[in-house]
Amino acid sequence: MKALVWCSPYNVNVETVPDPKILNRRDAIVRITSTCICGSDLHLVDGFIPFMKPGDILGHEPMGIVEEVGPGVDTSKVKVGDRVVVPFPIACGECFFCKRQLYSCCDNTNPKAHLPEKTFGFSTAGIFGYSHLTGGYAGGQAEMIRVPFADVNCQVMPEDLTDHQLVMLCDIFPTGYMAVEQCGVQPDDTVAVWGCGPVGQFTIRSAQLLGAHQVIAIDDEKKVPERMQMARDVGAITIDMHDEDVFERLLDLTGGIGPDVCIDAVGMEAHGYRAMESLYDKVKTNLFMETERPHALRQAIECCRKGGTVSIPGVYGGMADKIPLGALMNKGLTIKSGQTHVHRYVPELLDHIRQGRIDPSFVVTHRLPLSEAPYAYKMFREKDDGCIKVVLDPMA
Ligand SMILES: NC(=O)c1ccc[n+]([C@@H]2O[C@H](COP(=O)([O-])OP(=O)(O)OC[C@H]3O[C@@H](n4cnc5c(N)ncnc54)[C@H](O)[C@@H]3O)[C@@H](O)[C@H]2O)c1
Ligand SMILES: [Zn+2]
Ligand SMILES: [Zn+2]
Repeated sequence: MKALVWCSPYNVNVETVPDPKILNRRDAIVRITSTCICGSDLHLVDGFIPFMKPGDILGHEPMGIVEEVGPGVDTSKVKVGDRVVVPFPIACGECFFCKRQLYSCCDNTNPKAHLPEKTFGFSTAGIFGYSHLTGGYAGGQAEMIRVPFADVNCQVMPEDLTDHQLVMLCDIFPTGYMAVEQCGVQPDDTVAVWGCGPVGQFTIRSAQLLGAHQVIAIDDEKKVPERMQMARDVGAITIDMHDEDVFERLLDLTGGIGPDVCIDAVGMEAHGYRAMESLYDKVKTNLFMETERPHALRQAIECCRKGGTVSIPGVYGGMADKIPLGALMNKGLTIKSGQTHVHRYVPELLDHIRQGRIDPSFVVTHRLPLSEAPYAYKMFREKDDGCIKVVLDPMA
């Protein structure tokens, strides 16, 4: 089959690779009909996440049709011919963490647990197409994918909605939703969102679905005007990170107290605001003395109102410097974070879609054949051609 493989930093290619096979009794093989590129993939391509090997298949946002199931799969849950969405974290459904619906913390699905144990102290769940740190699983930017524990990880979808309405359930809709939901937003709350990428867009709309009074979105008006416009289209107030003083504007918009909830939907490759700080992070990351550029996170902590909550869906992989711990502690902030527990949210979000409260296809700006994936990565990375979310079509 054809698949998009990681070759080296900034270099991906579509190659012919062996078809996936059933390896374990509860595996399924899914033939992919739609599969997306994510901001998380950029961290891999940009060399920010370690433990990639040439030939690794990328992609963790696939949906398609079940083509084969192993003899141990519970066919009352998923069977050949079903249309399914595959959540990006791989869960066993039965461990201590899965029982508490902390699916991205599953203890049974990372065969390379020793790597995250060294890096994070404990193992994470396996993730499709997301380096050997999360198990080295083949990803979903391919014609087919092997899904372990298929009766847990294949989420059966209705036939009367389009791929573009459903495929965002693999990751970014649940990610935006969890980023807000875990903050317990109250009806008079202001939610500020750093980053108007695909995750930011779903965070903004989730804040509205969950009843926030005011949503404010921060990004770069010159670089990504279409992303800012998409936020304004649903009534968010936007702040340009370069031409405006983000802290002052947030105070103006919140009666001088700051947002109740501040969400970092940017992650480890944030662009800097202050020249000195940017230079500091640049030098330290180039010397491998720091692994991230946490500009958005720093600002979210600084801007959050006293007693408020900072939520971090943006991905971080290692060590960050100059986090304003004094502000965090003295203002009594709560921190929420995590790789998304996607499975927990799928039924609820599918219901939002069915009831017409949101149509996730709004975020799709490009649908391209899988063969054009290297070009699509470049476009998404450079934010060219108004690119917000790319869906790849392995059947085209
Ligand atoms: N927690 C999870 O489970 C999960 C799931 C999916 C994605 N993510 C992470 O969410 C983050 C966003 O993903 P995406 O697909 O939207 O990526 P993206 O790269 O398309 O979007 C990031 C946006 O942030 C903006 N930005 C950069 N620096 C900024 C700053 N200092 N202040 C405000 N905005 C800034 C960029 O202009 C861009 O529009 C990534 O880190 C990704 O890895 C996490
Ligand atoms: Zn993703
Ligand atoms: Zn588990």
